Order: sequence, then structure tokens, then C-alpha cells
Amino acid sequence: MTETVRPASGFNGTIQLPPDKSISHRAALFAAISDEKSIIENYSEAADPASTLSCLKQLGIQIEREKNRVTIQGVGRKGFINPATPLDCGNSGTTMRLLTGILAGAGVTAELTGDDSLSGRTMKRIIEPLRRMGATISAQEDEFAPISLKDHSGIKPMRYTLPIASAQLKSCVLLAGLFGDEPTEVIEQTPSRDHTERLLNLTSEPYGQGKIIRSSSSDTIPAQSYTVPGDFSAAAFWMVGAAIQSGSELILKNVGINPSRTGILHVLKQMGANITLTDERMQGSEPVADMKISNSSLQPIDLDPKLIPNCIDELPILMVAFCFANGRSTIRGAEELRHKETDRLSAMHEILTNAGAETTLRDDGIEIEGDPDFKPQNAEFNSYHDHRMAMAAAILSSKAGGESSILDADCTAISYPNFWKDLKEVSG
Ligand code: S3P
Repeated sequence: MTETVRPASGFNGTIQLPPDKSISHRAALFAAISDEKSIIENYSEAADPASTLSCLKQLGIQIEREKNRVTIQGVGRKGFINPATPLDCGNSGTTMRLLTGILAGAGVTAELTGDDSLSGRTMKRIIEPLRRMGATISAQEDEFAPISLKDHSGIKPMRYTLPIASAQLKSCVLLAGLFGDEPTEVIEQTPSRDHTERLLNLTSEPYGQGKIIRSSSSDTIPAQSYTVPGDFSAAAFWMVGAAIQSGSELILKNVGINPSRTGILHVLKQMGANITLTDERMQGSEPVADMKISNSSLQPIDLDPKLIPNCIDELPILMVAFCFANGRSTIRGAEELRHKETDRLSAMHEILTNAGAETTLRDDGIEIEGDPDFKPQNAEFNSYHDHRMAMAAAILSSKAGGESSILDADCTAISYPNFWKDLKEVSG
């Protein structure tokens, strides 16, 4: 499907964000290995968290779904059946990496597959530590899906220093560690999203410049009965959209504001964006707030590379904001963007260049010459089948002088099924 995006003269109104994708995955996975029954409210209706649910059903988990309420009867750590057919993780890296950690720990015999995009993403980062922990695991060229798991003689505890700042890798190792008699210890130097630690109440303590997190079979896996917050990563598109559209005043309700995710909020504020949080509160173990954004002029910024894991999914839309800043902004140290649903550095470079922005692509980043009066050329934009590329191109196009087209626009269903509807509504 191709979507047409018309120029907007401001983003106004109130948006109910889609439920957080990262938390939805975890809620379902952890509910399955709890000994209790969980009722998860506001579970995401997007395609990726649906992949997690369908894999769990194949593993023998009873799941009932009534709109956004999902009820899961946990089977404990050893209750999975060996699935008769491959577990299709679709487009979802989080499903594949976290589920592999759990199944490797549990000694389940299974094959995990994914779509073309997921099958092209490296799984070496999880295969290597899981093997060291005693898992019997193999993969295409020892790196790519399909991943095959077989029963093994037990999980060996491990002290593991994360070689990359990745919440998926951290979670994968900690989840496998839940099946070992002695604690598995994960040392994290640069913080990445900490939903796994919060939702499982894992113990951690400061270690060097970072922290050490532990998991073992003595950790009780709590029922996951809570309301999933609105997705901060979805909010980021509106934060930038309303910041760059004159005449905007947008309210976002119930936004997850976990500090390990809110890098772009601080960066945009530093750039001069007008964003306020109200009614900050806790929802289960996650902080949430309402957010108000209005238009303002933006200053350029050199993004601190240490912040990258804190805003990894928001970098594409941050690049759109950079186009409208008063000067040159830079991102360096973001090589990890090349390993997402598509190579997001190259894809964004092409989208921005297609719109007439002045950009320089680097191996690990991008430089963007911003201009507050930048008028993107209306164009036909490739989404690269990547939800975040499609949404970034749409926000950019809403500032163009004429109609633009976003190709394969239905890929937004991966994280934000109502994106196009919301865009039309707030554009008036
Ligand atoms: C995620 C972690 C991040 C992020 C992805 C979701 C998660 O990936 O890009 O969209 O839910 O843990 P990495 O851990 O690979 O950086």
C-alpha cells in the first residue's frame, strides 16, 4: 500500500499512543514462564508483539485475547512443549533474541525463523554467549536465522561483559541465566533499556562505570499483571512533528518515560523544543506521564555518542528534526543503526537526500546541514519495509510544499497500526 502525505499546517489535538512494543513482548514472554496467571492490559496490537504471542501459543501456552487485554496462564520455567513447526518471529528482533534466550535456557528443541529482514540480521551476538552457557544452538552460516535449538545438559552460569550496548542481547543472556543454578552476571558499561530488569525484579549493583545485573533459577518470575504504557518510541515521531510544524499544540497521553528510553526528549529540549511533562506517575514498575509539545525554533547539536543506546530507535526521526535546526548537527558512533530492520543510516540518508536536505553519510553516522526555512521536496519515498523509515518519511513529508508518497506504508503496522489515521487526525 502507498500512502499519500499532504502538507500540514500544524499538528493539533490529543493522541492515544500505541502500547509500548518492548514492554508488550516482555510482558507476554515473562508471563509464560511465571507460575501464575497474568492479565496484561493495553497489550500492543502491532504485528511484532503479535509474533511473540503466536510463538508462545506454538510452545503450548494458553493465551486469551480480548482486544488489548491478554490473559496468559504461566507454565513455569519447564512447561514449554517442543513446537511441532518452526516458530515464526516475523520481523521482530526482540521476539527472536529474547525467546531464543528463554528456550536455550529451558532446553527446548525448536527452530526460530523470521522474514527476509530478520533473516538478514546477525544473531551471532546471542549465539556466542548462549553457547558458552551450554546451549546447543546452530544457525545459518552460524549467524543468521533459522536458529535451531536442542536439549542440553543444563545452563552454566557465566560472567559476561556486554560487547555492545544492546538491550536485546542483555535480556537474552539474563533470560537464559534464569535457568542456571548459580547466578549469571551481566556487566553493562553503557546503559540500554532496562525493562527486563524492572519487570523481573532482577538484582543489580554499580560496577565500574556501569552496573552488574544477575539472574538465576532462584529468581521468582512475577505475574505480569499491569497496564502497558504508551510507546515512547512512537511518541518521538509526534515530538519532532509538533516541534517542526508551526501552529502545533499536541498532547500525548500516558507516555512511557523510562529514563533508559528518553534520550531524544533531552536532546530535543537541549535543541530548544517546547516539550512539557505533566502528571508523572508509576504504572507498575514503569514511569509514565502526559506530554505537551508545541512548535519552537531548534538549535543544532552534536549528539553525544554515549546517548545513542538511549535513543537508538529515535535516531531516524531525530535526523528529521536536524533538517530544521539552525545549522549543522552530527551523529557519530551509531554504526548499530546499520543492523536494524534495514540499514537505517543509509536509508535515512537516501530519504533526506531525496527530500533535498544537505547530508553527509559516514560509516558510523551522519551530518545534516539544518535550515529553519527548509522546505522538503515532495517526493516518492521508499520505506525499505521498515516501520520507522515510513513514519520518519511521513513526518518529513508533512513539511513539504506538495503531496508525497510513502511506499509500502503498511509496514507501520509493525509497531504503530494507527499511525496513518493519527497523522490525518492531527493534521486537521
Ligand atoms: C529493543 C532493543 C533495541 C531496539 C529494539 C527493541 C528491545 O535493540 O532497537 O527496537 O525491546 O529490547 P538492540 O538491543 O538490538 O539495540
